[in-house]
Amino acid sequence: MSETFNLYLFKSEKQLTPFLQKEKKEGKKIGFVPTMGALHRGHISLIDKAKTECDIVVCSIFVNPTQFNNAKDLEKYPRPIEHDMEMLLAAGCTVLYLPSSNEIYPEGKPLLKEYDLGYFDKVLEAAFRPGHFQGVANVVFRLLKKVESDILYLGRKDFQQIQVIRKMIEIEKIPILIESCEIVREASGLAMSSRNVRLSEDAWHNASVISQTLFFLVEKRNEFNSIKTLRTEGIKRLKAIPDSILEYLEVCDEETLRPIEIFIEGKPSVILTAIWVDGVRLIDNVLIS
Ligand code: PAJ
Repeated sequence: MSETFNLYLFKSEKQLTPFLQKEKKEGKKIGFVPTMGALHRGHISLIDKAKTECDIVVCSIFVNPTQFNNAKDLEKYPRPIEHDMEMLLAAGCTVLYLPSSNEIYPEGKPLLKEYDLGYFDKVLEAAFRPGHFQGVANVVFRLLKKVESDILYLGRKDFQQIQVIRKMIEIEKIPILIESCEIVREASGLAMSSRNVRLSEDAWHNASVISQTLFFLVEKRNEFNSIKTLRTEGIKRLKAIPDSILEYLEVCDEETLRPIEIFIEGKPSVILTAIWVDGVRLIDNVLIS
C-alpha cells in the first residue's frame, strides 16, 4: 500500500508562522527548499534529502522578479502550479509556501538591499546577468526571515548561487545550515532545469552535448598539457552545438571561483558553463574533487 501525505498550502506569512512556531515548540526540525516552481526531479531531490533529515519540509514557490535581468525571461518563466502541487504532495513535502509579490516586496517597487558579495558578484553568472545575485540574495533573505528553518537545501546546479547565499547568510548572521545537493540529470546527461521545457525536441537533444563536454573534460583532464588547452577544446565542442551562443566555460577553484591554471591534488575545482541553445539560456557545471 502506498503512503498518503497531506500538503499544507499557505499563501501568507500570517498562516505560515503560527503553524511553524507550533512545530518548533514541539522540537521539530524544519528544512526549507526555496524554488521558483515548474518543479522537476531536481527540485524533488532536495525535498527528498530534506525529508531524511528534518521533521517538517517547507517548499516555497515564488517567481522572484528582482533576479530576472531580462523581462522576456520573467514573462516566459513556466508557472504550472497545479502540477507542482501534485509533485510536492507525492514527494511528501509538508508545507507549500506560496507568497504573493506583495508579501515579499510590501514596499511595492522592491527596495533591494545592496549586499557586498565581493568577487562572486563580478564573475561568471554575475558578469552576464548584472543584478541577478542581488535579487537572489534579497529574496532568499526575505524568505528565510519568514520560514526560519534549521537547514536550507540548495542544488549544485546553481553552483555560484550557493556561494552567494552563503555570503549573504554570513553578512546577515543567520543561524542556519546549508546543505548543497547533487545535480539531477536527464538520462542524456542534460541537467534538469525548469527552462528545458522551452527547448525544441532537436535542441533538447543537442543540449546534451553540454554535460557530455563537461564529463569529457573531467575524464581527460590529465591528457591536456594545460588548463588553457583543455578550455580551448571545451569551447570548441560547445560552440559546435547548433543554434548556440556560448557565454563562458571556466575552470575555477571550487571555493573561491577564481580561475585556476593547474589542478592541485586535494584542492577541489569546478568547470562551469553557460550557453544559449535555441534561445534558452542553460547552465551546468561539474566538480573535480
Ligand atoms: P529554482 O531555479 O527553482 O531552483 C530551486 C532549487 O533547485 C535551487 O537550489 C536549484 O539549484 C535546485 N535545482 C534546480 N535544478 C536542479 C537539478 N537539476 N538538480 C539539483 N538541484 C536543482 O534557484 C532558484 O530557483 C532561485 O534562484 C531561488 C533560490 C528560489 C531564489 O529565488
